[in-house]
Amino acid sequence: MRYLEGHFAPVEVEVTAYDLPVTGRIPAELGGRYVRNGPNPVGVEDPGTHVWGMGQGMVHGVRLRDGRAEWYRNRFVRVPGYAPMVHVIEHAGQIFAMAEGGLPPALLDDELNTVGFCRLGATAEGFTAGAHSKHDPRTGELHSLSYMAGRDFVQYIVTDTAGAVVRAVPIAMTRTPFLHDFALTGDHVVLWDTPLGFDGFDCRWLPGHPTRVGVMPRTGGEVRWHDIDPVHVSHTLNAYDDGDSVVVDLVTARGPFDPADPGAIRPVLDRWTITTDEAQQQRIDDRPQDFPRINDAYAGHPHRYGYSAATALYGIPFAPEGAAPDAAFSNALVKHDFQRCTAEVHAFGAEETVGEAVFVATGSGEDEGYLLTYVHDPHRNAADLVVLAARDFTGEPIARIHLPARVPLGLHGNWLPDH
Ligand SMILES: [Fe+2]
Repeated sequence: MRYLEGHFAPVEVEVTAYDLPVTGRIPAELGGRYVRNGPNPVGVEDPGTHVWGMGQGMVHGVRLRDGRAEWYRNRFVRVPGYAPMVHVIEHAGQIFAMAEGGLPPALLDDELNTVGFCRLGATAEGFTAGAHSKHDPRTGELHSLSYMAGRDFVQYIVTDTAGAVVRAVPIAMTRTPFLHDFALTGDHVVLWDTPLGFDGFDCRWLPGHPTRVGVMPRTGGEVRWHDIDPVHVSHTLNAYDDGDSVVVDLVTARGPFDPADPGAIRPVLDRWTITTDEAQQQRIDDRPQDFPRINDAYAGHPHRYGYSAATALYGIPFAPEGAAPDAAFSNALVKHDFQRCTAEVHAFGAEETVGEAVFVATGSGEDEGYLLTYVHDPHRNAADLVVLAARDFTGEPIARIHLPARVPLGLHGNWLPDH
């Protein structure tokens, strides 16, 4: 029931609102739309067996222009049969709601209405671009790693800036892994094979299945595998080549991981350094956090800064008594400085909750820009779109844009700038 109640409760209606009220000042240089996707399971017949992430997707977007919040819209992702509810990306001049595994994205119009199925990244084997497809900031290509239950291989798919598949490389596995995310450097693709995988069409934690990490050249060829301590991998922050090594910063958790209850784990931030001989696992931050993001201009290349969302009530002196330890979402964002090995925490109100924050660059400095995120305000039973200055991370928000509706805590989004 927990994932159907409170800040998770699905929204029944689609809302369109114009000229939203703002506390603070919306930077005039922010012209575009912030759009976030997530599960919105209306009409669940048996709440007792509801699984997090099941149900129709819903996108929530706010359009900013000339210092104003022009509109808020939430729209169901209207694709029959499955749920493109994980992410939102823009590629080849179009907006896509991304689905898990290798299922087709949904094509959205500029006002977030579903146009229909889309075969972005489609290959002859039926795979399409995956949920955490990644742009190469230097070429604009879209790189994906897709899996499908029942297939003993995954596919690495590269889509060009026009949306055409230019490379599809099958990678043999011993069974279908759960590969929600992967890592991409300038030269390599990094994937993992953990105890979380498919037993037929059931995704579950399979004790005893060895955990390994594999590195493959982006051009294809042999995958170099290394055994590592068994962990669940949640999300990649970034990865890059460092001489002969590959460095991956990512969120991991000790298993067992239950896909039906993602809040029951304690995800932390790790760095994996993979040489030709071995993979070293190093803890960067032991505090529970997830939804890592960076300045995407640095994707695949060395980064100094990263941003994540606290996933339990850590470091917050006013944490509500009795708050569930497995709350999955908390009320704080974290800015990591990997060069100085420090982290700053921005805490919202004690009863507020926040998910992924998206970095929007406005200058040439790596942290020159803003973070955008939805914050759930239980007193208004509605969300604010909050704008933080990344260089004044612990300072007061630049703006809080007050939405007329609740945005259920959900998954991933992006800033879609005006062109
Ligand atoms: Fe994700």
